[in-house]
Amino acid sequence: MKLICANFKMNLTRNDIKNYLNVINDKIKDNVIFFPTSLYLNDFKEEGYKIGSQDISFKDFGSVTGDTSVLQLKDMGINYTIIGHSERREYFNDSKYVNQKINLALKNNIKVVLCIGENLNEFESNQTIIILKKELDDAINNNLDLINRDNLIIAYEPIWAIGTGKIPTIDILNKTILEIKEYLKSYNLNLKVLYGGSVNLDNIEELETINLIDGYLIGGASLNPEKFLSLINKVN
Ligand code: PGA
Repeated sequence: MKLICANFKMNLTRNDIKNYLNVINDKIKDNVIFFPTSLYLNDFKEEGYKIGSQDISFKDFGSVTGDTSVLQLKDMGINYTIIGHSERREYFNDSKYVNQKINLALKNNIKVVLCIGENLNEFESNQTIIILKKELDDAINNNLDLINRDNLIIAYEPIWAIGTGKIPTIDILNKTILEIKEYLKSYNLNLKVLYGGSVNLDNIEELETINLIDGYLIGGASLNPEKFLSLINKVN
């Protein structure tokens, strides 16, 4: 079964979450992980769903106002965390901390969904694979001994596809995912690669034709529970 990660980002309030849980009631399988705002992690946990955080602090404890430690999130029952989402890289300079965060998560037995992806400029100037290799190197460097197929999942998310309704052509996507997997082999790694960026009901059937895709990271299309259920029903 493919892995499906629902990234709510900074959306939904308590009432929305209650409604969401009522709608999805018992219709979700074990391959779906919810990444709500940390404040609502417990609501999903209590209903028996698998949960992950959208980020962790680069430190375990200490004077980092506003951050949440992986150990505190682990207390909440997370099994997964997203690291290096492009929004965090853009607004919070997260590229600098990706390596440290992965190290902390893996040492604490939290599985990592590592986001990598090129921006439009890089895409248009054929630099995609250069960017992806750099982001993979930055993440893996010093952490190789901790990584295995079970605990590090790559999410390929072209930045220009996030929230825009645009996705790469199937040929390009196929080629890029193949290149990622080939590059990982140079580290002796065989990891799952998810696709993320405007996955929705209109393009899921097309995306499903790509055998190399091991799952999806879904933002906007995960926010409406009815639509999300329809979407994941189309995933093999
Ligand atoms: P989107 O977001 O599905 O809304 O494009 C995906 C993501 O940023 O993880």
